[in-house]
Amino acid sequence: MRKVRRQFACVGFFSLIVNLLTLTTSLYMLQLFDRVLASQSIDTLVYLTLIAVLALMFQSVLEAVRGLVLGRTGGWIERIVGPETLERGLEGRLRGAAGAMDGLRDLGVCRSFLGSPAMMSLYDLPWVPIYMAVAFLFHPLIGWIATAGTVLLFVSTLANGWLTDARLRRANAGAVALHRQTDAVARNAEIIDSMGMVPAVLRRWQNQAALLAADQQYAGDVAAILLAVIRFLRVAVQVACLGAGAWLVLQNEITGGAMIAASIIMGRALAPVEQTSATWKQLLAARQSWQRLKAHLAQPPLRPPGIPLPEPEGRLAVERLTYAFPGSRLPMIKGITFGLEPGESLAVLGPSAAGKTTLLRLLIGVLEPTTGAARLDGANLFAWLRDDLGRHVGYLPQDVELFDGTVFTNIARMDEAAPDEVIEAARLAGCHEMILRLPNGYETQIGEAGALLSGGQRQRIALARALFRQPRFVVLDEPNANLDTEGELALVRALALLKARRATTILVTHRPSLVQTVDKALVMRDGAIEAFGPREEVMKHLIRPVTGSPPPTASSPLPARAAVPAGVEA
Ligand SMILES: Nc1ncnc2c1ncn2[C@@H]1O[C@H](COP(=O)(O)OP(=O)(O)OP(=O)(O)O)[C@@H](O)[C@H]1O
Ligand SMILES: [Mg+2]
Repeated sequence: MRKVRRQFACVGFFSLIVNLLTLTTSLYMLQLFDRVLASQSIDTLVYLTLIAVLALMFQSVLEAVRGLVLGRTGGWIERIVGPETLERGLEGRLRGAAGAMDGLRDLGVCRSFLGSPAMMSLYDLPWVPIYMAVAFLFHPLIGWIATAGTVLLFVSTLANGWLTDARLRRANAGAVALHRQTDAVARNAEIIDSMGMVPAVLRRWQNQAALLAADQQYAGDVAAILLAVIRFLRVAVQVACLGAGAWLVLQNEITGGAMIAASIIMGRALAPVEQTSATWKQLLAARQSWQRLKAHLAQPPLRPPGIPLPEPEGRLAVERLTYAFPGSRLPMIKGITFGLEPGESLAVLGPSAAGKTTLLRLLIGVLEPTTGAARLDGANLFAWLRDDLGRHVGYLPQDVELFDGTVFTNIARMDEAAPDEVIEAARLAGCHEMILRLPNGYETQIGEAGALLSGGQRQRIALARALFRQPRFVVLDEPNANLDTEGELALVRALALLKARRATTILVTHRPSLVQTVDKALVMRDGAIEAFGPREEVMKHLIRPVTGSPPPTASSPLPARAAVPAGVEA
């Protein structure tokens, strides 16, 4: 806002001139009546008309210019503030805040408000006193009528605000909630359709919409009534000016021209007040968005500023790592300590909800540890400058999400990339041939969130994205959840290649086939380490029966559930 102060001041200055020029018609009228009609001079009439038309043209030009300036200023603000808004939104998401991405929408509301008529009428409001002053110049009586009318109009406009603000606020908040609900419905169209959930969904939607409707209806009613009152007041003030003017003419206090001119001025003077009242809803929405946006941008950045670090070797050290989800006092991850040497691979095992995914998210630094730290080559992974760390990290999330675009851009992490880099990543992930079989190969559009691909295809492309530009530190959350035998073989090959390239690799899996490929294993239960060490030892420990029953042999397979390696399907 400080940067665009000049533009706003400039528009303010234009508005002053626009409003001064607004006096043109009434002054013209005054001159016509009192000079031209009295003197019967055609020359004067022609000159006056020319001057008036020129002045009106100039006024229109200025009005257009201030609209253009404000529109551009809005666009400019959006361009400058947009990236930061998006960044704060992403950080808000990482902190787990709902609606963290609303900032961009608020920015859009503010931007379109800047160029709107509602904004122009705000700029015209401060100049209303000019008209009052002119009215007083004509005659104090007319001045007082004008002042009283304006005050009444202002009061009505404010009354509109007092009566409807709270309701409109609630309605706006409800509209946001409704918007989110419809988004969720759109995302889950198949689930809703297949399981006959349409009536239930409709009911919920209707209930939510009904909540809004009452508030909107009320605000709409009040606004409509008050707007009619304001229109009436404006015309009434005009009529009163005319009436008082006529009386003053009869008393020989003012001329007939002054009477007409004063009435015209009053009509024009009260227009911004009426306009403000008519656009009150917009004004309120913009103000709400502006306040939310300010709060949004005032959030402290998630991470301290950092500097790029040299490429890590891949030595991972996890030190007494604890993590509690926001709003929860009990930690989910309870004091985890372990380390990996560069090039080592680790399988994380454990039952559902043991905290495996949460641990992985702490390791790649998207969650901020409550206490302790995860370090790569000694540097705290959470605090690491993101653009810099990203090059060294490959992450395959448990729920694969791809972006709308081509296979190529998805593997290239939405960035510019040379074809051989992308093909290399696809080869490494073992999906090069699979991609070539797609209709347009690497240029195939994969649809919103990869909707045009199968689950397995998505997972393999996401693996290629994780391995793009050969990161030093690779974290895979159930990479084989959707894979067939061929995909799984490709994955095993990829893990071997990663090892050959000395990438430190961590993967979560429930399947023994992948566990066989790693150096170390870590078993989690309830957010804590149950076992950690070289794979064979950990597996031996796991197979050892917990309940005292005899160890498994060929003739007596694993007896109890507890004896099955935790989280590993037999
Ligand atoms: N954003 C969140 N807010 C609060 N609790 C969460 C959040 N995400 C996960 N949890 C909780 O953390 C626990 C561990 O979840 P996590 O996803 O780490 O399990 P997991 O071991 O990966 O399980 P799975 O094998 O099913 O993937 C669960 O009980 C879950 O309810
Ligand atoms: Mg998980």
